[in-house]
Amino acid sequence: MSTVAVHAGEQRQKPGDSITDPIFCASTYTFRDTQAIIDYIEQEQPREEYGRYGNPGERVAERKLAALEGAEDAVLFASGMAALVGLLMAKLSSGDEVIFFDECYHRSREFCAKHMSRFGVKTIQVPACDYDAMEAAITPNTRLLISESPTNPHMSVVDLERFADLGKRTGVETLIDATLATPYNLRPISAGVDYVLHSATKYLGGHNDLLAGVVAGSTESMESVRNLRGIMGGINGPQNVYLLLRGLKTFQLRMARHNENGLKVAQFLESHPRVEKVYYPGLESHRDHEVAKRSMTGFGGLITFLIKDADWRATADVIDSVTIPRIAPSLGGVESLIEQPMVISYYSYAPEDRQKFGIPDNMIRMSCGIEDSDDLIADLSQALDTTA
Ligand SMILES: Cc1ncc(COP(=O)(O)O)c(C=O)c1O
Repeated sequence: MSTVAVHAGEQRQKPGDSITDPIFCASTYTFRDTQAIIDYIEQEQPREEYGRYGNPGERVAERKLAALEGAEDAVLFASGMAALVGLLMAKLSSGDEVIFFDECYHRSREFCAKHMSRFGVKTIQVPACDYDAMEAAITPNTRLLISESPTNPHMSVVDLERFADLGKRTGVETLIDATLATPYNLRPISAGVDYVLHSATKYLGGHNDLLAGVVAGSTESMESVRNLRGIMGGINGPQNVYLLLRGLKTFQLRMARHNENGLKVAQFLESHPRVEKVYYPGLESHRDHEVAKRSMTGFGGLITFLIKDADWRATADVIDSVTIPRIAPSLGGVESLIEQPMVISYYSYAPEDRQKFGIPDNMIRMSCGIEDSDDLIADLSQALDTTA
């Protein structure tokens, strides 16, 4: 995978004989003469036309991401949410229905639940990993089954074969948002899932310095997604794509370290008397540990845990006492991040809604970066002990 991450999608000899792909700062691309435009349109020669339809760096990133994913094609977007919205808008029409597992990034839920309905698309939420409930909700109008794996922030792991089989048996397409796993840890396409989506803002970019999103699938299925992106314009600028390509070069190395740090920190947290519960699929105590062990290479750097007998303020005190992880939303970068979902994502929600979505006041989400695990553990240890 490291060889793919470094080399896939790139020409061996690049413009200017550069080792890296150059940044083409162009909003449009010129034609020699009118006949060249006609040749381009009639023969569909692969070349650039106008910046909203793509740029050379983006093509490289798309080929690299498709290769990493084991997919025929991939379409890059300006963010993970733009990728999700782009895919749903490209694939769904008024009267269609979508079913999704209810543990998910809150903005994905918000878009499905609040906005798809405005376009006549009905969305139905069923409990995460309840395949029977999902099957029971399928009607002749169902077009797409959606889940994250692992889910954010509960880290539930979907049985991909079962999920893909459900789609195939019922003639409904399937989508996995594998942002938390990445292609290093999870292979949804080879398990038979139709579409894989990532917020490339996270592990793929990997440095907390860019936003991007990607959808991967068959060449045929990506055509309508790419066409719609060219119209809606949720595209990456050339500089952003360069950062993504640069981040991807070290993808395999970073993921191995995120996996190692995630497991060590999760094991430490589980053994600490102040911690009530740890959600991390690499732990035997996790409900989906067996599925995760069977289907994942590693379990990533994201850990969700509950502080014992703590209200929201006592939980915030733990967060305010760490010195290495930075307090911020997001995950998957080289710097560790820590947050309290109740405060950062669900502050404006009614308490009963927080309860419904499984977000208690004493929940902390930590994204382990690539620092030394001993330092992260020592820091968490002092934060838990000094605030006891
Ligand atoms: C699982 C998951 N999917 C999608 C997104 C959206 O990605 P972006 O922030 O790049 O739009 C996020 C963001 O946190 C996420 O956690």
